[in-house]
This record gives sequence, structure tokens and C-alpha cells, in this order.
Amino acid sequence: PQNVGILAMECYFPLQFVDQEKLEQFDKVSSGKYTIGLGQSKMSFCLDNEDINSICLTVLNNLMEKYSIKPEEVGRLEVGTETLIDKSKSVKSVLMSLFEKSGNTDVEGVDNVNACFGGTAALFNAINWVESSYWDGRYAIVVMGDIALYAKGNARPTGGAGAIAFLIGPDSPLVFERGLRSNHISHAYDFYKPVMDSEYPIVDGKLSVVCYLNALDKCYQLYKKKFQNLSSINALNDLNNNDNYSNDEKKNNGNFNLNSASAFLFHSPYCKLVQKSFARLLWNDFLENELSECQMNSLDQYKNLTNEESFLDKQLEKELVKASETLFKKKTSPSLLFAKEIGNMYTPSLYGCLASHLLSKPIENLRNTRLCLFSYGSGLAASMYSIVISENKNERFTLEKLLENLERHKTKLNEHRVEIEPELYDKYLQQRELTNKKVPRVPSFDTQTLYPGTWYLKSIDENYKRKYERV
Ligand code: ACO
Repeated sequence: PQNVGILAMECYFPLQFVDQEKLEQFDKVSSGKYTIGLGQSKMSFCLDNEDINSICLTVLNNLMEKYSIKPEEVGRLEVGTETLIDKSKSVKSVLMSLFEKSGNTDVEGVDNVNACFGGTAALFNAINWVESSYWDGRYAIVVMGDIALYAKGNARPTGGAGAIAFLIGPDSPLVFERGLRSNHISHAYDFYKPVMDSEYPIVDGKLSVVCYLNALDKCYQLYKKKFQNLSSINALNDLNNNDNYSNDEKKNNGNFNLNSASAFLFHSPYCKLVQKSFARLLWNDFLENELSECQMNSLDQYKNLTNEESFLDKQLEKELVKASETLFKKKTSPSLLFAKEIGNMYTPSLYGCLASHLLSKPIENLRNTRLCLFSYGSGLAASMYSIVISENKNERFTLEKLLENLERHKTKLNEHRVEIEPELYDKYLQQRELTNKKVPRVPSFDTQTLYPGTWYLKSIDENYKRKYERV
């Protein structure tokens, strides 16, 4: 199969949100810390009538309905999440209830877990399957979702909640570039969830940022090498020979730098980290004497810093942010709409950036462009890879349809949400800490708090069995 990638896409985020400016006041931190310092505007959260199974059911059901996908057309279903409510039973097995009527139980794949990286792992599995000898001609679906909650304190404003689902197959409008993936996986205690009774992670925030930026460096350097080595393969030749591609993307034939893709998308725990990440890519290009058109003379004085020192030097960070600002505004800033408005969705975070990027431009400016994506999950696992937006010949799953469907979410984000005051949010989380693990239990909130078409948790019995229904 050729041009394997994303055929269709669906998003879900809960109705409720907290305003970050009001949260600053409630938390008694200096005004601007969350909104300017972290770059966040709003934070979505679920009430106790939703859980990881229900938000994944919602996004999967909506994807299949919106695109009229029959259960028997699906041969693989993968889930990525770090919101575990069961140490053994997968979310995937719960999602199979949507396939029951069809009789199709021949659906490969289970859950993938490694902090925010699980969604990307699930996506790679689906792509690999379609490109493999095991592929039987059916579609793959990837579902990723999380409910990101932090204990009271400085990490709390970096929470969020949501889910995203993809339909994967050949002849797609969003093609994964073959042979172009770099990885960095290593052992770190930057963010982890060893306390099974708690929904909160143990987090070393400062360490997690250094781990993230170091993984970014490693992945970018390796991606550049792989790009160079593979620049003779078909996909890249096509790109370089195709007159439709922008001159930017054709420049530096064989070398990959910030000019080689029209967008750089990042896992986004908070938007400010993404700006620093983009700046870090410029630093890598600078060290390789690339990107001569950027004003980078001011960086010469930092050339002799060790790698470690370069992460910690605040002045260098400032210079890099300044030198990369114009490119950042063009290539990354438009992808931060979901991250800013919803918060960190964990596994779907990077893909919320993909949705935002696709929503930010007219279709003719999207076609024949390359997107470079960086995925990070604490603990830690990270990858960099690229997607080319192609002129696909598939009439059922077009870029037009995909964009039309995403527009609905933009409207929802802007118009149909319910603001909850930080006092209530805080009280709700205190209550949640006490009741979350109790059984039997019936959720305290009713279906008024949900969008139409949402699956919700009806009850949990004394044997911890959960029942779900749809609004
Ligand atoms: N106006 C403008 N900016 C401000 C203000 C203000 N009033 N007050 C502070 N700031 C700036 C700070 O200068 C700082 O900027 P800098 O990063 O450029 O230095 C920024 O706001 C954040 O302030 P800090 O004091 O550094 O924030 P704090 O240490 O309290 O918390 C952190 C930030 C560590 C990210 C915390 O929210 C956290 O632990 N989050 C969870 C971990 C996380 O998301 N890690 C990212 C990768 S791993 C993952 O994806 C989960």
C-alpha cells in the first residue's frame, strides 16, 4: 500500500473549563504567571460522569459516525493513554463494545502506555501494520485520550483533558514519510505515577523540562542524519522534484533544517515550552552553520558552552527565542490553539497541534507541505517524524472532508463551553480525591454537563464493573 497515513480525524474535549487568569488569582500567584509565563488561556476538565473509557468511546463513536465507517471495515484498533483505571483490562477491550453488534472481533491491538508518548506508539503500530505483511486490506483506528490532573501546586495549571481518534489507511491526505523516524528513549524519574490510588503524578517539573529539551535535541540531530541518508528515497525525491512544493521545503537539498518543513509541531505541556523548543531547533541549526538568513551573530558568544550549560543558560535561551521569533510565528504558533484553550491533553496533545495547524490555513496553503512532529512522554520516550500533505486520489477520505469536520471543533471551542470558577474546580478535585476509588458509586453529575452524543459513566458496582450510556 502507498501513501499510508491519516484518512480521517475526530477530536473530543469536555464541556467544562477553568480560566487561567482567574486560576492565577485563586492560587495567589503573580498575575501573568500562567497566561504569559506558561502561555495558557483555559484548561478543560471532566466531571465524575466521564472517565478514560467514556471519553475514548465518545471520540471513537463520533469518528465512525461522522465518516460512516462500518465496524467490519476495521482490522486494527490501538489505544494510547496514561489514565489507567485498571492495571489489567485495556481501554481497547471496552471500546470493542461498539463492535459487538457487527460480530467483528478480529480487531488487533491493545493499549500503549508511556506517559504522553502512548498515542504516538499506538499511531506507529497502526501505520506499521498497514505497511506490513499482516495487513488484510482493512482500516486501522487509533484512539488516544487522557484526563490530566495535578495535585494543588505549581503543576496544576498544566492539566487538561481530551481525546483524539484517527482512521489510518493507504491513499491518505496526510502521508507518513517512510523511513524517517528518530527516537530517544531512556530512563528518568521526571514524571511518573507509582501511587496506584492517586490520579496525580509525582513530578519533578524542572527536570521534566530539561529531559524534554534534551530528547528534542537528540531526536532532531538523528532526524537530520536520517533525512540526509534517505534523501535519495522516493518520497524525498518526489518532494524535491515536485513544483508544487514551496521553495522553502526544496531548499538545502539533502540537509534538514528549519526551512525544510512548513510546520514544526510539538507535544505541548504548555505553550511557552513549545516556543523554547522551536528556539532549541534553531540552536541545533546554528551549531551546524545552517540558516544563514536568520540574525544569529548574537549567538556566537555561546558557541563554546557545553551541551549541559546550553540548557541552563537563561541568556542564551532569550537570544534563541528572539532569533527564532519570526519563524516560530510562521511555523509553530498557529498550531497552539488547542493547547492554549484546552491545556495538556497528554497523549493527544501533539495531535491537537496537528488539528490546530490544519485549521489555521486555507487548504491550498496546506497541500504539498511537510510537517515535522515531535512527540514526548516522560519516563521517557520521544520520537520525531514527518507527514507530507498530499494530493490524494481517495474520494471517500479527502483533505476537504477532514478539514470540514475539524471546523466543528473550532466552533465548539469558541462558542459552546461552560466556565467553572477556580473555587469550584478546587472543591471538586478535593471531593474527587476522596471518592474516586470508592465503589459502588453513581456519579454525582447528570447528563446536563455533557455535549450531545457523549458517552458517560452510569455506575460502578461493588465488583468495580463500570456501565456506560450515551447522551
Ligand atoms: N508574568 C510573566 N511570566 C511569569 C510570571 C508573571 N507574573 N511569573 C512567572 N513567570 C514566568 C517565569 O519567569 C517562568 O518563565 P521561564 O520558564 O522562561 O523561566 C515561567 O513563568 C514559569 O514560572 P516558574 O516559576 O518556572 O514555574 P514553576 O516552576 O512554578 O512551574 C512547571 C512550571 C515546572 C512547568 C510546572 O507547571 C510543572 O511542573 N508542570 C508539569 C510538568 C510539565 O508539564 N513538564 C513538561 C514536560 S513533561 C509533560 O509533558 C508532563
